[in-house]
Amino acid sequence: MTHHYQETYDRSLRDPEGFWGEVAEDCHWYKKWDQVLDDSNKPFYCWFKGGELNTCYNALDLHVESGRAEQTALIHDSPVTDSITYYTYRELRDKVARFAGVLADQGVEKGDRVIIYMPMIPEAAIAMLACARLGAVHSVVFGGFAANELATRINDAKPRVIVSASCGIEGSRVIEYKPLLDKAVELAKSKPEKCIVYQRPMVNAPLSGDRDLDWDECMQKARDRDCVRVKSEDPLYILYTSGTTGQPKGVVRDNGGHMVALKWSMKAVYNIDPGDVFWTASDIGWVVGHSYIIYAPLFKGSTTVMYEGKPVGTPNAGAFWRVISQHGVKTFFTAPTAFRAIKQQDPQCMYVKQYDISNFEYLFLAGERTDPDTLGWAEQHLQVPVIDHWWQTETAWAIAANCVGIEQFPVKPGSPTKPVPGWNLHTLDTQGEPLPPGEIGTLAVKLPLPPGSLMTLWGNDQGFVDKYLSTFPGYYNTADAGYIDEDGYVFVMGRTDDIINVAGHRLSTGAIEEVLAEHPDVAECAVVGVEDELKGQVPIGFVVVSAGVDRDYSEIEQECVKLVRDQIGPVAAFKSATVVQRLPKTRSGKVLRGTMQKIADNREYSIPATIDDPEILNEIQKNLIDKGFAQ
Ligand code: COA
Ligand code: AMP
Repeated sequence: MTHHYQETYDRSLRDPEGFWGEVAEDCHWYKKWDQVLDDSNKPFYCWFKGGELNTCYNALDLHVESGRAEQTALIHDSPVTDSITYYTYRELRDKVARFAGVLADQGVEKGDRVIIYMPMIPEAAIAMLACARLGAVHSVVFGGFAANELATRINDAKPRVIVSASCGIEGSRVIEYKPLLDKAVELAKSKPEKCIVYQRPMVNAPLSGDRDLDWDECMQKARDRDCVRVKSEDPLYILYTSGTTGQPKGVVRDNGGHMVALKWSMKAVYNIDPGDVFWTASDIGWVVGHSYIIYAPLFKGSTTVMYEGKPVGTPNAGAFWRVISQHGVKTFFTAPTAFRAIKQQDPQCMYVKQYDISNFEYLFLAGERTDPDTLGWAEQHLQVPVIDHWWQTETAWAIAANCVGIEQFPVKPGSPTKPVPGWNLHTLDTQGEPLPPGEIGTLAVKLPLPPGSLMTLWGNDQGFVDKYLSTFPGYYNTADAGYIDEDGYVFVMGRTDDIINVAGHRLSTGAIEEVLAEHPDVAECAVVGVEDELKGQVPIGFVVVSAGVDRDYSEIEQECVKLVRDQIGPVAAFKSATVVQRLPKTRSGKVLRGTMQKIADNREYSIPATIDDPEILNEIQKNLIDKGFAQ
């Protein structure tokens, strides 16, 4: 393979079958594919049709059998429990094989779904890999979601088994998981047959009836299970992500394409070789955690760090430098918001001076645009290339990046650099026509998408076509606006839908509005994302109370905040709701969310000609000033 970006990129688009066919030779297949790309059922594509493999075999057994058995596969670094645990490839393989036995004892077979609702502990990784070993489909649900969100996912995925733990630890707070799990199962229409609970020493969760099983007891009784052959296109996991309504979208990932693309990306994008130490500070509940805490580093035979802590407060703003130094991390990946948190507490980055970080070579950031301030600060204090790269739950890996393993380009602040090989990226106007360099439009990827990207939405092929493929026929609509400049650098400006980005977490304002609308005193409402120094954006709500409601408005506001926390979860970071007399609307009744957002962000705005009552904007502005958002 060539080492020059342009040649590699051009080849990947000109001859995708030749390109990915060669890449796939680097993986283990029980049976090679008959066809690299099957496009007989457009717009659905299948990579490596006819191929048979096992994802867990490629992540673990392959390395055990080829000389890496005693190399560390996973380091669990947990400042919140003051512990560091190392697993060699052999140890991890053995634990995974045993837990696969536990799942099999409960009747889990190829194609069955297993929901994993766990904190950042090694058992979560073990559960994911054990599912892959059996060909079962895991769906990890982030711990910061409330019971209601978990119930929605249970109803959609219909898991046979749920795997959970007695508690998570958020900074210094212990969060019990079992009450949330019990409530979710109670709320869900589809009931799991079994819940397997890992008991952590801080909380012993009561296990109920025949349904609940203790992880340790099950492990003692089970026997190891071998890898099950699956087809390339068989689903590996479902990962739910925010859609434009309260109904989350279940992104479906295949086994074959995912393995090929992710393994390749480790060298091409992150310059990681087998044996190198790679650390992604995220959560296994997000796609970043799936791809770059678990699967890709293990496919590559590198060492992955799983971190149960925060950027600050566990114990201080030097936590990241301590981990990088202690484990000899070469490439580190997190979200810009984590760096803003560190910068707030340690503006001169004094803590870094306490550590030897000489093995550290690259910092990668994603999840939201890296603002030039954060970029400059990190470059100045860490003295390594700081690389913004752009991707989505749907894509599993980067659409645009500075592929340092192929050819490193100078950084342009505000840009995730160039499209990654495999991604035929264009900027389109509203008619779907490609725009010239420098002009802003919707960023869209010409089909076929490269291996690893979503196959469909779980149980909803039509929804997949409608949501992603129908706006611009022949293209995948990223729903991000942006442009590509004369040098081929991509600039991502923000979403074209109602999704906002809160501390690197993706949330739908529409979904929050649906929750607010459930409040008995709320007649109508609007939620917008406003700028926040730490989290990038935070949601705030405006509610109009129903006629005849004669209550203290501040009580209603507090109830609204609580409702969102209870229904969606603390991760929504919804801390502000304001009662207003009316919402600003156009004469045709469309709520002017964009104008409200501009007022909150202190940006210039023009009063839309179609507004039905311009006076209302003054009331909105006054409310925002009172709440400390606008000036
Ligand atoms: N389980 C339970 N609760 C959780 C949780 C989990 N796994 N993760 C977050 N929460 C809770 C937090 O405790 C917080 O609760 P609170 O409102 O009671 O304080 C709430 O959800 C919001 O969490 P978060 O947005 O993470 O804010 P924070 O103030 O706790 O931390 C940062 C701010 C910047 C330090 C933190 O967001 C961070 O490290 N972000 C990294 C981003 C990241 O991993 N992105 C993933 C994509 S790359
Ligand atoms: P998620 O699916 O949670 O990973 O969120 C994906 C969305 O986050 C994208 O559609 C973008 O809006 C945003 N995003 C992620 N990475 C970047 C980035 N590097 N620059 C700009 N936006 C980003």
